[in-house]
Amino acid sequence: MPKLIASMRHAVSLTLNGRKVEGQAEPRMLLSDFLRHQLGATGTHVGCEHGVCGACTVLIDGLPARSCLALAVQSDGADVKTIEGLSPDGGHTLGVLQEAFREHHGLQCGFCTPGILMSLDGFLRAQPDASERELKEMLSGHLCRCTGYATIIKAALHAQQRLKEERAYA
Ligand code: FES
Ligand code: FES
Repeated sequence: MPKLIASMRHAVSLTLNGRKVEGQAEPRMLLSDFLRHQLGATGTHVGCEHGVCGACTVLIDGLPARSCLALAVQSDGADVKTIEGLSPDGGHTLGVLQEAFREHHGLQCGFCTPGILMSLDGFLRAQPDASERELKEMLSGHLCRCTGYATIIKAALHAQQRLKEERAYA
């Protein structure tokens, strides 16, 4: 990456949920702030801002990443998927994960849910046959303090099954 001038804004272009977008960011601007304030993708939530809670998780080039630990300028040219990209038709209907969370009340306070869903989206694609234990281990990277993880895990297991069935019939 070329040397960037700290006081200047630099052009950043990336693919956001399948669409090419552009914005301007100072070198210190976090990807989470860039997504929310420059690109209007406010579904990505910011909790701790230091990589602990998982609320800000998005997929960067297909892999779950904390957007509060990435710089906007680092993401130039990347493929970024946020919660707004989980619906198959731009928000008119729910995706499999969203539907499973709705059915099993996995959505609790809601603040942390976008990050949890994005981690699960990346995880279940990479490890479709993950065991319940592996799933729980992955979810341990997300802090939920509203109740417990029981309904989140139930919803995640249901979504895993649905995704498997979809693949079997694809
Ligand atoms: S806001 Fe990024 S991990 Fe908490
Ligand atoms: S889902 Fe947000 S604290 Fe539990």
